[in-house]
Amino acid sequence: MYFSTVGIVSDHAGRDLKKLLVELLSTMEITVEDLGVAYEVETSVDYPDYAGLLASRISQKKLDGGIAICGTGIGMSIAANKYPGVRAGVVWSEFSARMSREHNDSNLLCLGSRTLNEHRAADFAKIWLETAFAKGHHQIRIDKISKIEKKNGLHI
Ligand code: RB5
Repeated sequence: MYFSTVGIVSDHAGRDLKKLLVELLSTMEITVEDLGVAYEVETSVDYPDYAGLLASRISQKKLDGGIAICGTGIGMSIAANKYPGVRAGVVWSEFSARMSREHNDSNLLCLGSRTLNEHRAADFAKIWLETAFAKGHHQIRIDKISKIEKKNGLHI
């Protein structure tokens, strides 16, 4: 397993899918931190608040990785990628789940609860968690992303 500690967040749109994924993670050898939104909260919440809770912990290396769910996964990914060291990507297929790990060393999986069947989403999460970064020439590209962060004053 490439992630020992994984955080999970959603906004109101992703609440049901988050519940399913927390159940999936609890069957794997992974420590899970559910950072909200709490299942009992019935009002709308703002995805940047939850993306920030998770991405800041990954950025500070308090978590190895995370899963963020909103209606499309897009808002979560935009907000999470503002945090240095976070590589968040929206995944929509088995192939994109695998590539986001093998080529991009993604450490934050973003899923859309309104764009994906929940069982497909769970399959993508499993693939993402079980796929290794391929390193090699892909590491050169990841290093270039870190250089962009440094150039823009975003240090870890
Ligand atoms: C909430 O309605 C929706 O905008 C949010 O879940 C997400 O899809 C944003 O990217």
